[in-house]
Amino acid sequence: MNIPDELIQLLQKARKVVALTGAGISAESGIPTFRQAQTGLWAQYDPEELATRAAFQRNPRLVWQWYAWRRQLVQQAAPNPGHLALAEWERIVPEFMLITQNVDGLHQRAGSQNVIELHGNLLRVKCFDHDHTVPTWEEDEIPPRCGQCGSYLRPDVVWFGESLPAAGLHTAVTAARTADIFLSIGTSSLVQPAASLALEAKSYRVPIVEINPQSTPLTSAFNFVLAGPAGEVLPELMGRVRGDGVMR
Ligand code: APR
Repeated sequence: MNIPDELIQLLQKARKVVALTGAGISAESGIPTFRQAQTGLWAQYDPEELATRAAFQRNPRLVWQWYAWRRQLVQQAAPNPGHLALAEWERIVPEFMLITQNVDGLHQRAGSQNVIELHGNLLRVKCFDHDHTVPTWEEDEIPPRCGQCGSYLRPDVVWFGESLPAAGLHTAVTAARTADIFLSIGTSSLVQPAASLALEAKSYRVPIVEINPQSTPLTSAFNFVLAGPAGEVLPELMGRVRGDGVMR
């Protein structure tokens, strides 16, 4: 990939690196992106019609089973070189913040420590009525019920129409504004407020980089655009940042 020297110099000098990731960084781990056609049984459903409170109230069993399918997909998946490169980057710069829209937990499994999960994590479960989180649950009833209040359990993710965790969002906005460089990786930049972080960074004169094989509605706003898969581009960037050019 042709990576501009100017970008390499910025990356080598950057002491505070902030990265926003979307479903695209998990695509090479075999996890379908959010807007990629669903496979098999779920091909007939539009994710945006399953990931809502109304859908769960209408058909709790269906929505629970969709997340159970996605949970086993995630548990069978492994972090890919893109996730691993970001985890390595965190180890070699003074400050690294990873803001993810993904709910698959693959960044943490790759070794990333400083992760903000803007949209929650489908491996965590809470109850519908009071957000009681439960570490484990029995599947004797589908969906299972909360041991404390008896309401249905649901995945601990942010559904369409629900608000994002306020503290996490505030931290993400502050990080974007104060970064030495901001990377937007594997996201279609369609869903707010995550999609605004890159422009927020730019409004604070932070250089912004997009890594995505496709263009997005924000592509023209980026200072640098690396049009390739994250699993190839990020290891190459890391090699250049380390200065040895070796893709590990
Ligand atoms: N490397 C990098 N990017 C990739 C790759 C790859 N190997 N493969 C696909 N992409 C890009 C696609 O081009 C697309 O722009 O990843 C993006 C995935 O976009 P979406 O499926 O819209 O996922 P995302 O941007 O994360 O969606 C944001 O919307 O639906 C909600 O809560 C959901 O977190 C999700 C949010």
